[in-house]
Amino acid sequence: MGIRITPSILNADFAHLADEVARIPSADGIHVDVMDNHFVPNLTLGLPVVESLRRSTDKLLDIHLMIAEADRWAPAYAEAGAESVTFHVEAAAAPIRLARELRSRGARASMALKPATPIEPYADLLGELDMVLLMTVEPGFGGQKFLDLVLPKIQRTRALVEKTGQDIWIQVDGGISESTIERCIDAGADTFVAGSAVFGADDPDAMVRALRDRGDR
Ligand code: DX5
Ligand code: ZN
Repeated sequence: MGIRITPSILNADFAHLADEVARIPSADGIHVDVMDNHFVPNLTLGLPVVESLRRSTDKLLDIHLMIAEADRWAPAYAEAGAESVTFHVEAAAAPIRLARELRSRGARASMALKPATPIEPYADLLGELDMVLLMTVEPGFGGQKFLDLVLPKIQRTRALVEKTGQDIWIQVDGGISESTIERCIDAGADTFVAGSAVFGADDPDAMVRALRDRGDR
């Protein structure tokens, strides 16, 4: 099965983001973590930085919004040219309307779930989505330990996605490394965020390829 690797720039050098992105030519996309110090207890970057990144790379921009009032802010990221915009269902007042707004602006619509949020209440929404992001750590920080307890939810999400008959990606985010990625592949994930594993490596691009190779075994 071909898998996608979308490295997170959370652990990259924010003063040289364009250079950091250029270090990972093998990446399938760039995962950008937007945090507001409200939905999560950390603050990162916002729309102006995403607009600058858009001008500096042709790579797929995979925006992960960890912000309150997602309905209000998410569409602007699609308008900025991001190919994929992920909102947290815990922060969206009207996820169906929001997903449709993202798609109408030309972006892939994606919905994220924190580790303790079940997928089942949202099963009927899957047809409105292009991707589901299952957090495998509590959102907010890079470098945390992978939570094995999310694996059954990955399996259940895969089963629900198969029922739709649509090509909905299942992304996992948090603690993904060479030692945890295979468990997620086996459970049914196909798209992988890796932050510290990639940018903490001596050769980030080699790590991207090493992670992807795990999916080809
Ligand atoms: C955490 C972010 C992740 C983070 C992953 O809240 O959403 O994207 O950067 O970092 P690692 O791979 O180090 O867990
Ligand atoms: Zn993320």
